[in-house]
Amino acid sequence: MNWGFIGFGRIARKFLTSLESVQGETPYAFASRSNAVELKKEFSDVKVYDSYEALFADPDIDIVYISTTHNFHCQNVIDALSAGKHVLCEKPMGVSSDEIRKMTEVTKGTSKFLMEAMWMRFLPAYREAIRRAKSGEIGEIQYITASFGFNSPNLKPEGRLLNPDLAGGALYDVGVYPLTIVSDIFGWQPDSFQAQAVLSETGIDQSIQVQLSYKGGEMAQVFGSIAMNTNKEACIYGSEGFIKLPLFWKAQEFEIHKGDNIEKVELPFKSTGYAHEIEEVVKCIKEGKTESPLFTLNDSLMSANLVESILSSIFNQS
Ligand SMILES: NC(=O)c1ccc[n+]([C@@H]2O[C@H](COP(=O)([O-])OP(=O)(O)OC[C@H]3O[C@@H](n4cnc5c(N)ncnc54)[C@H](OP(=O)(O)O)[C@@H]3O)[C@@H](O)[C@H]2O)c1
Repeated sequence: MNWGFIGFGRIARKFLTSLESVQGETPYAFASRSNAVELKKEFSDVKVYDSYEALFADPDIDIVYISTTHNFHCQNVIDALSAGKHVLCEKPMGVSSDEIRKMTEVTKGTSKFLMEAMWMRFLPAYREAIRRAKSGEIGEIQYITASFGFNSPNLKPEGRLLNPDLAGGALYDVGVYPLTIVSDIFGWQPDSFQAQAVLSETGIDQSIQVQLSYKGGEMAQVFGSIAMNTNKEACIYGSEGFIKLPLFWKAQEFEIHKGDNIEKVELPFKSTGYAHEIEEVVKCIKEGKTESPLFTLNDSLMSANLVESILSSIFNQS
């Protein structure tokens, strides 16, 4: 397939390396509103557009990869689908459940494929760790912790992470990964939750913690931050042991701890890691599917619902 990229920033470059590693998939065109002139010089064998509309209008593009800032995703997805393209959109695909409903409505009127790029779900190490956790190997799962915090020095108030107009904030940017690993074990709907956040001067959640409780008595503790480095680890605790996933959202290994016994499992990802989600997209489209069974549009809706509830609990408190 011929791929068109919308928004060509930091993640697009890493995604490009993975795309180039998948046979039969071609980076065909990039659209950048801010950097088209430079991109034309850098990528002489790729078409470069200075507007997203021009890329959507290119009949040779089969699929659009969207990596703009969070606030633009919904409109970009709708425009790409309406132009007859398949779509893979970076996380979070929508900043509200209403946005996900709108995109789902549009995609249902087409025969086109749409998926949120929750790449973690497609990684071999991550999938195997979840499979083994669910197999009963560590007994009954009772508790999960997952933390993803990083500190980028010199973040600008107008930049995508701190700017509320660009839907900045830790939960949208990194918190969706810990919430997804918890959902993979306990489901998307906690019985109750409590959330606290430290807000930035710009008014977004720069650090956020959420404690979730589930009907069967299970619990989870989730943390996300764009203001501090954390251990960036997830742990799934069962009655007979625990599974530890270092760097769980880009997992390449995990450990199963049972008493004094530690089993280490290594399952490296291909290229820069995004090849697995790309292969899933290609497989689904070849099979005529309009969504992936591994991360469905309902997953996007449930994720957006949970994020929305958490953020409204924070911003209604403050
Ligand atoms: N899957 C992953 O591992 C991963 C990792 C990091 C980020 N992400 C996600 O990928 C997306 C982009 O993240 P990124 O780190 O690549 O972002 P970025 O480099 O800061 O920006 C990406 C693009 O967004 C547009 N943009 C940035 N700031 C803007 C502004 N102030 N006004 C209008 N447009 C602006 C620009 O598009 P133009 O090129 O058109 O100017 C830019 O090239 C987000 O959804 C993020 O959550 C995913």
